Amino acid sequence: MLTAIKPKKRVPFVYLFIKQQSQLEVRQYKTCKHEDFKVSEEQRVHREGHRLLFQILTLPSINEAVSGFWYMQSLQEILEFKDKNADDEKVTYDFTDAVINIRNRHNDVIPTMAQGVVEYKEAYGTDPIVSQNVQYFLDRFYMSRISIRMLLNQHTLLFGGKVNPAHPKQIGSIDPHCRVSEVIRDAYENARNLCDRYYMNSPELVLEEFNAKEKGKPVTMVYVPSHLYHMVFELYKNAMRATMELYGDAMEYPSIHTQVALGSEDLTVKVSDRGGGVPLRKIDRLFTYTYSTAPRPSIDGSRAAPLAGYGYGLPISRLYARYFQGDLKLYSMEGYGTDAVIYIRALSTESIERLPVYNKSAWKHYNTIHEADDWCVPSKEPKDMTTFRSL
Ligand SMILES: Nc1ncnc2c1ncn2[C@@H]1O[C@H](COP(=O)(O)OP(=O)(O)OP(=O)(O)O)[C@@H](O)[C@H]1O
Ligand SMILES: [Mg+2]
Repeated sequence: MLTAIKPKKRVPFVYLFIKQQSQLEVRQYKTCKHEDFKVSEEQRVHREGHRLLFQILTLPSINEAVSGFWYMQSLQEILEFKDKNADDEKVTYDFTDAVINIRNRHNDVIPTMAQGVVEYKEAYGTDPIVSQNVQYFLDRFYMSRISIRMLLNQHTLLFGGKVNPAHPKQIGSIDPHCRVSEVIRDAYENARNLCDRYYMNSPELVLEEFNAKEKGKPVTMVYVPSHLYHMVFELYKNAMRATMELYGDAMEYPSIHTQVALGSEDLTVKVSDRGGGVPLRKIDRLFTYTYSTAPRPSIDGSRAAPLAGYGYGLPISRLYARYFQGDLKLYSMEGYGTDAVIYIRALSTESIERLPVYNKSAWKHYNTIHEADDWCVPSKEPKDMTTFRSL
């Protein structure tokens, strides 16, 4: 449940943190004893990684990030506090320091893993079953990462001793009165700056709000503004790129329309562009970690296109939406434009963390023998009409 309760006193958070981690694991591993902290996220990743395919863990990038040093080291650093006195100020201070170090160590997990997937494709080619398993694995891996970073951020913000001057009412990373349109405008402006730098121009924003709960009042909710920002920022970058690529050197570009609606169950944000759209056949593909129509960024980042990169924008944004039981969907009209819709639970009591579980079903997922389809499947690619000439 997404709650924003300010801690009244400095609780023994060292234990709280470790306990929280253990509880997640207890939930995940019903047979795991509370003190058996060894069954950790790192191990889940390992187990699933091995299920996925042994070779993937031997790739240099993925080995560095997942199976090698980062996760193992972070786990060891956290475990050092397990038996320490949580009431000792020095321990408190050191623990927060350790949490900050851990968070920073994992900053580059996404580009490193993305590089690993590229290496994997180059080394072993693309097999549809492996691609499906990679997608399943990465969705679960990144969802766990979102959750762990949420905990790390929450801890450093609450116990780091500083109040964010821009958002003094925020409880850690949670804003009990998050003004949705403000976050949206902020994301739009930053995406626009990137767009201006790359294309020398950018589409305008038209933003409308509909508050069905309190008519005429701005839409607010209990949420993590950085998550909302991440999602809309990615959608604006995509919408701007599609619009600018379609309209080329035109002096005027169709605006990006954004509608925010608050109902009794859902808070919905729709970002509509007129960037030419995507055919239905490709929609599912846009959410895979290996699909992008942008030039591949170089490893050192020197040739990175500012508006697009690895093809991670949509799948990661969808995970952010799903993390608190929402969703992100794309509806497109090829030849016209695309509507990207973010669904968020309007009630904070419904915003419950969604986490992967490693159990028999997950195990089965990696081991299912994919049999022939029970519907006839025509070729997925459009026919090359030049081969159908009339005689
Ligand atoms: N609004 C849109 N209109 C047209 N095509 C889109 C739109 N949004 C996404 N796409 C297509 O989907 C692909 C994947 O989008 P995604 O945001 O996941 O990755 P990306 O933009 O290529 O790179 P990045 O990781 O920087 O976001 C894009 O490369 C683009 O071809
Ligand atoms: Mg993108």
